[in-house]
Amino acid sequence: MPTIRPATPADSPQWLALRLALWDDHTEEEMLAEMKTLRQDPQQAVFLAEENGVLIGFAETSLRKYADGCDTSPVGYLEGWYVAPEHRRTGIGSALVRAAETWARAQGCHEMASDTWLENETSIRAHLHLGYEEAERLVHFTKKI
Ligand SMILES: CC(C)(COP(=O)(O)OP(=O)(O)OC[C@H]1O[C@@H](n2cnc3c(N)ncnc32)[C@H](O)[C@@H]1OP(=O)(O)O)[C@@H](O)C(=O)NCCC(=O)NCCS
Repeated sequence: MPTIRPATPADSPQWLALRLALWDDHTEEEMLAEMKTLRQDPQQAVFLAEENGVLIGFAETSLRKYADGCDTSPVGYLEGWYVAPEHRRTGIGSALVRAAETWARAQGCHEMASDTWLENETSIRAHLHLGYEEAERLVHFTKKI
């Protein structure tokens, strides 16, 4: 099992590559600015999975004041979750989420929340596997005015 640990500034190049694999609609510049803010914000935390010096997954978490379906405040929120394809189904994703949950508990949270796309069946199954319950399904609308 790889090491699960918090991110350090030296991780930025590999962490960036993993983030770009998950969120391909962002530019590198946007990502780097976001990562810098994230690292300096005590309300957010990043956990990385490292194997033989190579980063193979991450979980980003934050404290949110409210989350749909939760009764307490603040709650830990799973903002980003990714494991490199060749390392999936070996428990790394679960280990990353457990690290995020431990962090949120240490910040005083009693609940975790998360979201995913309706069609992301893998993510839905992985959430359910970790004890998450579906709270609601949303449809977003837009209109030019
Ligand atoms: C979601 C993701 C992070 C899970 O990482 P992972 O390392 O494969 O997770 P785990 O190995 O800990 O899997 C835990 C459980 O989730 C379920 N699961 C995970 N992938 C699954 C799949 N493809 N099909 C069915 N169930 C799956 C299983 O119950 C699995 O337990 P099992 O292997 O003992 O059956 C990974 O699939 C991923 O990076 N997906 C692409 C990015 C993404 O969708 N991120 C989530 C956005 S919210």
